[in-house]
Amino acid sequence: MTSSAALEVDQLEVCYGGIQAVRGISFSVNPGEIVAMIGANGAGKSSTLRAIAGAVPHAGVIRIDNQVIRTTHPEEIVRKGLSLVPEGRGIFANLSIEENLRLGAWTNRSNYDMNLSKVFGLFPRLKERRNQMAGTLSGGEQQMLAMGRALMSRSEILLLDEPSMGLAPKLVREIFAILRDINQAGVTLLVVEQNAVMALRLAHRACLLELGAITLSGTGTELLENPKIRSAYLGH
Ligand SMILES: Nc1ncnc2c1ncn2[C@@H]1O[C@H](COP(=O)(O)OP(=O)(O)OP(=O)(O)O)[C@@H](O)[C@H]1O
Ligand SMILES: [Mg+2]
Repeated sequence: MTSSAALEVDQLEVCYGGIQAVRGISFSVNPGEIVAMIGANGAGKSSTLRAIAGAVPHAGVIRIDNQVIRTTHPEEIVRKGLSLVPEGRGIFANLSIEENLRLGAWTNRSNYDMNLSKVFGLFPRLKERRNQMAGTLSGGEQQMLAMGRALMSRSEILLLDEPSMGLAPKLVREIFAILRDINQAGVTLLVVEQNAVMALRLAHRACLLELGAITLSGTGTELLENPKIRSAYLGH
């Protein structure tokens, strides 16, 4: 079967021992699209992203650009153009900003200087601080560095796990504005968020994950207007 999706997930299951965290979900992300996945703590959002990025084993079928992904090596998935910006960010505290960015380019060292200047263009704050140790950055700057590092591999698809977590409202708006810029530069995004309002406003399409299953999907606007979402996730 072929489709025009950048990422296609078919009957994805993730289990940890006897616990089934993701129960056979199917969805797709089209090239150039922003898709948001929202849901409560423990719904299986991070497990879904980790499975797609090759960081945990899965059952079901994952296709990137119509190619079925059979590898269990995350770096091979990065080479196929898909990177995960993990929950908690996963940057190297004892390395500088620029050293962290250099590590992001390890699967694709061609055009390093051009990629670096693109990332510094998106995140001028990282450029100003390029020699600063990553561990001394603020939460928002660390999120920018994690996103910049994923972009250094020239990914066409970026998975973001709670990019706004722990940030003050002003920085949350800044991060969401940068996500829009990254998307407008041609990168396809799958964004997992607890901040349902911001995520649904940003996304072209979205889905709600509950106890490992997709229980609602539609356009971002449709989900924003859905009474169930409004009462459970938007507080009105
Ligand atoms: N490494 C693991 N070992 C065992 N169980 C796990 C592991 N990782 C996640 N789980 C369980 O799988 C379920 C889904 O977790 P997951 O982290 O995917 O949820 P989430 O939707 O990202 O939640 P949150 O919003 O809190 O980040 C939870 O019940 C969690 O306890
Ligand atoms: Mg999570």
